[in-house]
Amino acid sequence: MLKFLKAQSLKAYNTFGFNIKADLFIKINTTEEFQELLKCKEWRDNKHLILGGGSNVLIVEDFHGLVILNCITGIEILEEEDQSVVVKCGGGENWHEFVLYTLKKNWGGLENLSLIPGTVGAAPMQNIGAYGVEIKDAFHSLEAVNLQTAEIEVFTAADCDFGYRESVFKHKYRGQYFISSVSFKLDRYGFHRLQMSYGIIQDVLKEKGIKSPSIQDVSESVIEIRQSKLPDPAKIGNSGSFFKNPVINSQQFNKLIEKFPELPSYGLDNGQIKLAAGWLIEKAGWKGYSENGVGVHQKQALVLVNYGNGTGKDIMNLAKKIQDSVQNKFGVELSPEVNFV
Ligand code: EPU
Repeated sequence: MLKFLKAQSLKAYNTFGFNIKADLFIKINTTEEFQELLKCKEWRDNKHLILGGGSNVLIVEDFHGLVILNCITGIEILEEEDQSVVVKCGGGENWHEFVLYTLKKNWGGLENLSLIPGTVGAAPMQNIGAYGVEIKDAFHSLEAVNLQTAEIEVFTAADCDFGYRESVFKHKYRGQYFISSVSFKLDRYGFHRLQMSYGIIQDVLKEKGIKSPSIQDVSESVIEIRQSKLPDPAKIGNSGSFFKNPVINSQQFNKLIEKFPELPSYGLDNGQIKLAAGWLIEKAGWKGYSENGVGVHQKQALVLVNYGNGTGKDIMNLAKKIQDSVQNKFGVELSPEVNFV
């Protein structure tokens, strides 16, 4: 029996902590429940919003429709090879809890992605990434329910067309699928190559005197780094990086670097250059700024925060001001990583 709630506050379901309401709300615990929902008039008669951990959405006002919370849990081993395993995880599982589970099993691949807020089902939507690893690197496949046909479809990595914080689910198939589970191919103990290209991970390990780190050591270092500069959403509302790091062409870059020689940058395989949005925002004077209960985090300018009494509109206004000022100072366009609802 599906249980719909009316006028439900979404405060606990968005990491900004905005106290907005949904006219109708339902928690979905199994794929079958979701398929049943597709036949209901509550689904047919309303617009919908599917939520995972609510860590990458900016809900600006009360949602006059049906909000569906993916609560599908369960972890299952699909394949066991000598050097690797394929493990399937319910879309509603908490991402970090799942990472910790894989670490306990000694399976390598997700350690750099420790402590990222959100759910497993939401992770492929924007190909979450941190410290040189993206979900696509350990991705095997996912199952998603087609909202039109109610059929379960399997997507390989190629089908998902992953890019930097991008996938087909943000574009071509936006609003067309419900991701019910995600499977990962992880390396068994002794068969994993750590990704340590980020100097900061090496610095932390050195500080701890660890010479040959395990996946658990890398995870602990990542957790330390994240805790030192990113606000904990349970304490200060936020959605991680609010903007993506902008990518520009070499011509534009050459002009910029002449004027700003210390501009942090990273050359991509296609010849384009990725800039650090946090640096641009900081240099435009926004780090630590606050207005109307919202602001720019003191330790990481890429993160917008809700100090408790701000609204989604306040965040949107602030984001617009930041975009305009970065555009004026550097001629660079910042695009949000967060999805606006
Ligand atoms: N920087 C500043 N000022 C700031 C923030 C950053 O000058 O306020 C400079 C740093 O000094 C550094 C550069 O910007 O030279 C890059 O900073 P950092 O390594 O902290 O990473 P980031 O570009 O700010 C990205 C991801 C994070 C991810 C980290 C580590 C995006 C949009 N953000 O941040 O992802 O954890 O790299 O890999 O790609 C997220 O997506 O929510 C997220 C937190």
